[in-house]
Amino acid sequence: MKNMMYSQAYEAAREKARALLSKMTLTEKIGQLSQFGTSIYSDNEQRFEDHFSEGKVGSYLTIKGAGKTNGIQKDLLKATRTPIPALFADDVIHGYRTTFPTPLAQSCSWDPELTRQCNGIAAKEAYRAGLKWTFAPMVDIARDPRWGRIMEGYGEDTYLCSRFAEAAVRGFQGDGDRPGKDHIYACMKHYAAYGACVGGRDYNTADMSPQTLQDVYLPPFRAGVEAGAATVMSAFNDVNGVPATANRYLLKDVLREQFGFRGFVVSDAGAIGELIAHGYAEDGGDAAEKAFNAGVDMVMAGDLYNDTFPALIKEGKIKEEDVDESVFSILTLKYFIGLFDEPYVDPSGEDCFFCPEHRAAARKAGAECAVLLENDGILPLSGVKSVALAGPLSSEEGKHHLLGGWSCSSDSAYTVSIKDGLTAALPGARVDVLPCDRFDGVTEENIEKAAQAAKGYDVIVACVGETAFMSGEAASRSELGLPGLQEKLVLALCATGKPVVCLVSSGRPLVLTGIKDKVNALMMIWQPGTEAGNSVADLLTGRVCPSGRLTASFPYRAGQIPVYYNHTSTGRPALGNWVFESKYRDCQIEPLYPFGYGGSYTNFEFSDISISSDSMSADGCIDVSLTVRNVGSYAGADVVQIYVRDLVGSRVRPVKELKAFEKVFLRPGESKRVKIPLPASRLAFTGVDMKQTVEPGKFFLWVSERSDDERYKFEFEVN
Ligand code: GLC
Repeated sequence: MKNMMYSQAYEAAREKARALLSKMTLTEKIGQLSQFGTSIYSDNEQRFEDHFSEGKVGSYLTIKGAGKTNGIQKDLLKATRTPIPALFADDVIHGYRTTFPTPLAQSCSWDPELTRQCNGIAAKEAYRAGLKWTFAPMVDIARDPRWGRIMEGYGEDTYLCSRFAEAAVRGFQGDGDRPGKDHIYACMKHYAAYGACVGGRDYNTADMSPQTLQDVYLPPFRAGVEAGAATVMSAFNDVNGVPATANRYLLKDVLREQFGFRGFVVSDAGAIGELIAHGYAEDGGDAAEKAFNAGVDMVMAGDLYNDTFPALIKEGKIKEEDVDESVFSILTLKYFIGLFDEPYVDPSGEDCFFCPEHRAAARKAGAECAVLLENDGILPLSGVKSVALAGPLSSEEGKHHLLGGWSCSSDSAYTVSIKDGLTAALPGARVDVLPCDRFDGVTEENIEKAAQAAKGYDVIVACVGETAFMSGEAASRSELGLPGLQEKLVLALCATGKPVVCLVSSGRPLVLTGIKDKVNALMMIWQPGTEAGNSVADLLTGRVCPSGRLTASFPYRAGQIPVYYNHTSTGRPALGNWVFESKYRDCQIEPLYPFGYGGSYTNFEFSDISISSDSMSADGCIDVSLTVRNVGSYAGADVVQIYVRDLVGSRVRPVKELKAFEKVFLRPGESKRVKIPLPASRLAFTGVDMKQTVEPGKFFLWVSERSDDERYKFEFEVN
């Protein structure tokens, strides 16, 4: 896999940057380290014109549209002594105008190519709007669904998240030796271990062994860097007592030395100033000094570096040559993406927003990310003449929530509601929306009305879940049930005796324990994006067969959390043998739905399963081979998942770890011979000595359809 940050084109950009740097004043240099803009939560788009003449602005965030970015760029270049174009950035997390499923939903496709395609379209639309940089992908491992930002990442598993991280970067930046037209820089965030926040409380402390940091939370960042990620964002949280945004170990020893990262680091919004609240810095100057010297090149957002660096340099607290290095890395990326050659964009390029091709991709993605949790055969719908839609996500009223968080550049006017999607997919059928189609409309009275009315329909489709704002940033929840009276609504609809298909839309795993055995079908549609209604209709009518598999465990109840699959054994694993085991007295130990779980309208069979050897050296590789056959009557896809267990290690090892997977699309009756390599290098872990080694010893290997599927088990040895 090429890494464009090591290409000839990158070296050429470095030469140009070196030449320009030598002509800049100190003020202009510090200006390149300063990003300005408005928070996504305010719409006062400041432009900071008074900073232009001294060259104090290097970058902007959240400026929307080619007209605005061109206007600012023109004024800035005219006003500065050394004309250096600003780098425009925004949070293009799962689409720009055309919105795709949230990243967590995308990870449930187990199809990194899907993410590469979605991000390629997102990059094209963002580029056409004048952006050259996105604050994505977010690759924080999330093992706690109380944390609202679980929706922004790729789930609980390190190996899977790493595959999506590299695909996400390639989607944004392209696969060439430089980012081409319609490509934008990626930003690996939030570096690091933001998802390990204690209690699932956003911005909270992350504290873990250095080995866990290396083996669980850092590999997705390494994968993104090796895929060529141009930038990294330092996180808000402290990690083992040192805030990530002032953490030299993370930002220099690991990111630069261990991973070979060559781009630049931007802080998260306000994270440098927050070192004071962390109790890690006395004041702004102290915070700026500590963050910069630890490795944060650019401040998001504001004058903190502009205001403090001249004195810090004079006092010898930071070195001008270090400032030069940071400016050099930023100027290099500005040359590398062609910003000096083309500082403006053609506004007519925005015609591609929401175009049929982009919508078709969103529709396909929305269907591929959904996970079928239960189905008694009611799905796919057939011969249905009337459908009652109930719940706050079923109609025009609630469709904007189907975009999910971080969709502020989109426009829900273009979103297809579930009502409209189903109406279009079921010509001749009556598709009506019952009371309770707004979050504030799910009341006892309306539940009663909806239940009564529903009796007159062939099937009920309940569309329930979270609002788009119940997950995302600063959206931690202590309980994970369906908000408000929605569970009561679903149960009332089930009590009608009519078949109930329950669609759940949320940014995070929810506790669905109270409804799973009551409904006829249960599908996690996540937040599917602009084409939500059509994606859902394709799934309910069988035009698309569900193929999603969970990448975050669904708890039986919130008190179980953390409930991730790749946990360690303990000395008293919950085997049900005796009372003195590691478990709860009042709750099962297994999740409601495990990692890797997901249903289909068809069935698959594995056969002729073998491993190429029962032993390999520490630099060897074992191939897992099997035949996958579609033995049902629908075209569909299965996900072959390869899990291993290292039976004895110098540190205790997880009871199971995903080490490879392959999604296999098959028509009815079709079979495919699959060979999946398992290199020994994937078995490496960080020992007590902090060295990453593949230790000799025995391993179990499972060829599975979900993390708790142990039907096909093998043993091998690393010698
Ligand atoms: C936010 C988020 C970060 C985002 C940035 C800019 O606080 O933590 O993910 O990219 O600010 O909006």
